[in-house]
Amino acid sequence: MPDAMELLRAQCAGCRNCPLGNTRTNLVFGVGSPTAKVLFVGEGPGEQEDLQGEPFVGKSGQLLDKYLSLIDLDRGGSKIYIANIVKCRPPHNRDPQPEESEACMPWLRQQVRLLRPRIIVCLGRIAAQRLISPDFRVTREHGQFREKGGIWLMGTFHPAALLRNTAQKKDALADFQALRDKMAQLNLLDEI
Ligand code: URA
Repeated sequence: MPDAMELLRAQCAGCRNCPLGNTRTNLVFGVGSPTAKVLFVGEGPGEQEDLQGEPFVGKSGQLLDKYLSLIDLDRGGSKIYIANIVKCRPPHNRDPQPEESEACMPWLRQQVRLLRPRIIVCLGRIAAQRLISPDFRVTREHGQFREKGGIWLMGTFHPAALLRNTAQKKDALADFQALRDKMAQLNLLDEI
């Protein structure tokens, strides 16, 4: 029997809450463990993600996988789930428009309701401003955890931004190490 997340994915595939559903190749719903307690949220699918139907599989995804492996996590493991604010690719990789993000939020809210994550890591400005605070500034506030409704939220650099600005890679690594520490503090490292 399909689990609740798979049912949600199937419902999401029929979504036409905004026009992006008409131009995408594949829905990019999310990937990871249905029991994950750490949820990563990016902005929206790029070209490779659109073609493959999986988040963060292009160049920025390779960098994300590298940071995950540095703190002993991986997308195939039991601890994490990766999703985006918008589930369909905005044409030409433009930022999702606020009304597209808004239209897609019910799907992310349902994903959060099913996963009940203890930690959400926002990858980049679009996710952090939507989930943490509308005036979130990544360069100033990256790596800081704050609790909202029982979930610890943290924003860090988007991997695509790190590919452009390599000087920030050290700060990003510190953020991932802070994530590892927070997971230890919340006893999320020894759970299956
Ligand atoms: N950038 C994102 O924000 N999400 C993806 O899935 C890929 C690139």
